[in-house]
Amino acid sequence: MDAINGTSAKTATLSIGDKSWDLPILNGTIGPQVVDIGKLYGQTGMFTYDPGFTSTASCESQITYIDGDEGVLLYRGYPIEQLAEDGDFLETCYLLLYGELPTAAQKADFDYRVTRHTMVHEQMSRFFHGFRRDAHPMAVLVASVGALSAFYHDSTDIADPQQRMIASVRMIAKIPTLAAMAYKYHIGQPFVYPKNDLDYASNFLRMCFSVPCEEYKVNPVLSRAIDRIFTLHADHEQNASTSTVRLAGSSGANPFACIAAGIACLWGPAHGGANEAALKMLGEIGSVERIPEFIKRAKDKNDPFRLMGFGHRVYKNYDPRAKIMQKTCHEVLGELGIKDDPLLDIAVELERIALQDEYFVERKLYPNIDFYSGITLRALGFPTSMFTVLFALARTVGWIGQWKEMIEDPGQRIGRPRQLYTGAQRRDYVPIARRK
Ligand code: SDX
Repeated sequence: MDAINGTSAKTATLSIGDKSWDLPILNGTIGPQVVDIGKLYGQTGMFTYDPGFTSTASCESQITYIDGDEGVLLYRGYPIEQLAEDGDFLETCYLLLYGELPTAAQKADFDYRVTRHTMVHEQMSRFFHGFRRDAHPMAVLVASVGALSAFYHDSTDIADPQQRMIASVRMIAKIPTLAAMAYKYHIGQPFVYPKNDLDYASNFLRMCFSVPCEEYKVNPVLSRAIDRIFTLHADHEQNASTSTVRLAGSSGANPFACIAAGIACLWGPAHGGANEAALKMLGEIGSVERIPEFIKRAKDKNDPFRLMGFGHRVYKNYDPRAKIMQKTCHEVLGELGIKDDPLLDIAVELERIALQDEYFVERKLYPNIDFYSGITLRALGFPTSMFTVLFALARTVGWIGQWKEMIEDPGQRIGRPRQLYTGAQRRDYVPIARRK
């Protein structure tokens, strides 16, 4: 079936000099078709060249679809707006892992399985105590997730489907516990064990914010908000961190090590670190009056400053998640009685000005998911250093789902890109005595 708005041709012809080659055109169910170049090097002795992978499909996937021009995001075909509004995060986890929405019985069973894997090995708490208290929580999370490989040997045999599913459920279940432990360790408070009678988001809020000296009461509006924020961040096609997990997994590395690699990649300010950087930027702008000064800097090619939380490699329209995040932001501030958050005022005004400015309009730069998330997470009580940890918590299901899909792909091989070499030609070694 031809992809919508695609071509009906079955091959693309590449001509170099007086030679030409026919390359197969493959169709997806929706979205751009692809030209299969798998045999190009063997046929032509040439590589393709696409350093940022702006025009390269690295794999076939059935999990998430993004239409960047239309601002569409589908998880297994379901619109993010509907899942965020009507479902909960563990339902989205089930959908991403199994491919279908769960029946009531399947959902109850999945919730039960995840809930009963939320504790971590008691030795893990000693592992944390090797860090300085002021270590960035992301540094602690990368290390502790990687360390899971040292504790759960019974779910690292990636050839065993049952072990793959146990590792997936364990990762989804334990990541909130490890994230909360990273936070508690950072602020010098005792770790809080998960409670099996709480839902996923409520359990996480309690592990972060309860203290031994008093009862902690979960605010249902806030736990619903954080649950929705997890759903928004759950998966996003072949972004940088997911591609990192896939590449690490293609060598046969165990799933915990692969997820740790994804967390490390997400940390960068151009990716998941943008929520932390966006809030810092709003603080640096400081007032609505200074917005023009920063807009000017963002447009200045000699200034490395960029509007954090703005722009996207794929979305050339409004990030659908940003709209839901903005709505959630107002809900949380309203529930907490925060009438006028100066950073929110700056964010709303910055968005208004930028969306009218030719530079941003021409480049189709819109707010992305990170633009409003920082204000929301800060209002929920999280320090800025925890923002990317929360992104990693939510994205773990996407990473593990994409890892599973890759491992179960019969055509899967180790990922090994090539290069355009522009270094020195062959030359002979010169003994040091003869070097000038
Ligand atoms: C996430 O890939 C995913 O799906 C990621 C993610 C996910 O869910 O996994 O959606 C999560 O990472 C969201 C993005 C968070 N990052 C930021 O908010 C950081 C700020 N944004 C930029 O750094 C940038 O927009 C990127 C990194 C997001 C995208 O970079 P691209 O696609 O490589 O775009 P580019 O750098 O080639 O920019 C194109 C033009 C350039 O100007 P010209 O050279 O054409 O004149 O737009 C300009 C850029 O200078 N530009 C910006 C800008 N983003 C792009 N100018 C000012 N401020 C910005 N934020």
